Amino acid sequence: MVQVLSIQSSPNLAGSISREISKTFVENFVAHHPGTTVVTRDLVTNPVPHLGVDLLGGLFSPPDQLTPAQRDALALSDALIAEIEAADVIVIGVPMHNFGIPSTLKAWVDHITRANKTFRYTEAGPVGLLSNKKVYLFGASGGVYSEGPYQAYDHAITFVQGVLGFLGLTDVSVVRAEGLALGPDVATKATAGARAAAEKLAA
Ligand SMILES: Cc1cc2nc3c(=O)[nH]c(=O)nc-3n(C[C@H](O)[C@H](O)[C@H](O)COP(=O)(O)O)c2cc1C
Repeated sequence: MVQVLSIQSSPNLAGSISREISKTFVENFVAHHPGTTVVTRDLVTNPVPHLGVDLLGGLFSPPDQLTPAQRDALALSDALIAEIEAADVIVIGVPMHNFGIPSTLKAWVDHITRANKTFRYTEAGPVGLLSNKKVYLFGASGGVYSEGPYQAYDHAITFVQGVLGFLGLTDVSVVRAEGLALGPDVATKATAGARAAAEKLAA
């Protein structure tokens, strides 16, 4: 049985393109892989807190000296990491906000990037501790970042892909719906192209 974990962070609940393309992928994937279970982690309707005093303190305190708040903060981080570990396929909707990812998604990244849990440093450099998962990133942006003069401004897809690679998740497929603010024709074409790419990847 395959387990899919879908991570969503667009606050545009009704009209989000990253959510729509992710949904297209997941629905098609389930249709092609009967018995698949899907877990959705919606970071907008069920936000993860910012990395704050309790999580940071908990990360650096001996287990027998944790405060109840630190214990709770670590428990959430543990649960989010367990969700990833249990998944075979990870789908992440990546809306671009101000050249980066939504802060809700960044808060999730801050909870799952944990020394000696999801990565560790060795004398030879960092080693990712996650493996054997297929990841799909479904990006959405008003402008174009895969090529052209704004390529260097893409701190959304490149950031997520970079973090996942650091954690050992290197089998990543990226679909971008981009240029969504460049007029209805470009937007319609970009969305249709991303939808078709998602359907193809799911088959
Ligand atoms: C707060 C905010 C900031 C945005 N910043 C950018 C940006 O820096 N570059 C860009 O190309 N588009 C930007 N956009 C446009 C979004 O990337 C675009 O609307 C995309 O479709 C968002 O994904 P979604 O449809 O899944 O919500 C921004 C949109 C919002 C709401």
